[in-house]
Amino acid sequence: MQGTSPNTASDRTLSNGPPLAVLFDAYGTLFDVYSVAQLAEELFPGRGQALSVLWRDKQIEYTRLVTTCNHGAHYQPFSVLTRAALVYAIKKIVVSDPSKSAAGQFDQNFEENHGPQVQRLLDQYQQLNAFPENLCVLQELKTRGIPTGILSNGDQAMLDAGVQSAGFSDLLAHVISVDPIRKFKTHPDAYGLGEQATGLAAPDILFVSSNAWDALAATWFGYQTLWVNRYRLPFEELGTLPTRTGHDLRAVLDFFS
Ligand code: LAC
Repeated sequence: MQGTSPNTASDRTLSNGPPLAVLFDAYGTLFDVYSVAQLAEELFPGRGQALSVLWRDKQIEYTRLVTTCNHGAHYQPFSVLTRAALVYAIKKIVVSDPSKSAAGQFDQNFEENHGPQVQRLLDQYQQLNAFPENLCVLQELKTRGIPTGILSNGDQAMLDAGVQSAGFSDLLAHVISVDPIRKFKTHPDAYGLGEQATGLAAPDILFVSSNAWDALAATWFGYQTLWVNRYRLPFEELGTLPTRTGHDLRAVLDFFS
């Protein structure tokens, strides 16, 4: 079954040769989305952790809503959905009883009361902490001449800011946003962008994600996949496993040993 020891990928038989390129999910995989919990805790004592978790869950839920409803008519870029998800999370977790305010009035009060906190958290999201081992792994892949990139729901400005802040700018050949096609992962067209950018077929590309749903969908699409199970979670129970599972990004290198 899935990985049993840190840094050691395990272990379904590879149906393909070693990957010719590696694409990474960004949020949760290269960048720690829960690192905002510290600032959230400063701003909203006692509720930082819960806020960061709900923020992330709601953000992903919104990507699915706008991709699947009305053939994408309600699409908005990831940065806009990220803000909307944060406002929702603060309203649910911090503002105790929105029903006390009249509709509209509540929204106006929200911006007055919490607008600056929202902005501080969004600013922080532009420079999320990278997981500590990531830089070395990207450097090692570059040394070995293996092309790498990001394939993310994030819009280009967000991704570029995160990449620069983490010091990854010289280490990634591609920073691919789904925004130009207005469909978020897990839509197959979003995964198809990785093939277009690299000029390779999915079975020749390793797609790496810490999000189980993303690793599953990429596997269904046809990529070789690594699920980086940082939080010792069960994988999705839908009958398909990723190619391999590891516990941090160093498991990528096992595909090339
Ligand atoms: C991404 C999010 C979904 O980077 O993790 O695509």
